[in-house]
Amino acid sequence: MNALKSKTAAHSLTTNTEVVMPNDTNHIGNLFGGKLLQWMDITAAIAAGRHCNRVVVTATINHVSFDNPIKQNSVVTLEAKVSRAFTSSMEVFIDVFVEDRITGEKTKCNEAIFTFVAIDQHGSPLPVPPVIPETDEEKKRYEGALRRRQLSLILGGRMKPDDATELKALFVAD
Ligand SMILES: CC(C)(COP(=O)(O)OP(=O)(O)OC[C@H]1O[C@@H](n2cnc3c(N)ncnc32)[C@H](O)[C@@H]1OP(=O)(O)O)[C@@H](O)C(=O)NCCC(=O)NCCS
Repeated sequence: MNALKSKTAAHSLTTNTEVVMPNDTNHIGNLFGGKLLQWMDITAAIAAGRHCNRVVVTATINHVSFDNPIKQNSVVTLEAKVSRAFTSSMEVFIDVFVEDRITGEKTKCNEAIFTFVAIDQHGSPLPVPPVIPETDEEKKRYEGALRRRQLSLILGGRMKPDDATELKALFVAD
């Protein structure tokens, strides 16, 4: 089997359902943000690992939005999928939903983007397979990933703003 053969985004889909217990909450009875970050990190790491069949580490958290508070006793579902892979790094989107216990209806309440890197036994980066986006949302996320990577590398001091061609194109007309 070719370890670097392209895989669909759907291949990495990872779903994790949790209940917000009292010790997961903050002082006003809502899910503590740090707890949600932990669930996001674990769910997204499994998705990245499924994509590349390697050990992965979190390289950076690109974006997190806590759009709606999540109450104690809520049923929370996290869905993570690799949106794009570069050489050794993979961008992963995590969508967070709260489920109405009576109707079963799921409402999206949070979203995050993490970057993982595949590593060998010495901690050195390893190449990962490309992603094939299929749905409209997967294609949109795939397209935006290069800009987000460039922004993250600039913020991390790993790229000069002048070299961020894809990102600059958003702001500078030809
Ligand atoms: C992530 C890690 C493996 C990167 O190692 P490195 O020696 O810097 O390797 P490189 O410079 O080759 O970077 C590897 C990849 O990570 C990407 N990367 C590193 N920092 C990044 C950032 N801030 N934003 C986006 N991508 C980043 C690089 O662009 C590169 O991607 P590519 O191979 O797809 O082009 C290393 O920093 C590490 O082990 N960090 C600790 C990870 C960890 O323990 N996480 C758990 C939480 S503490």
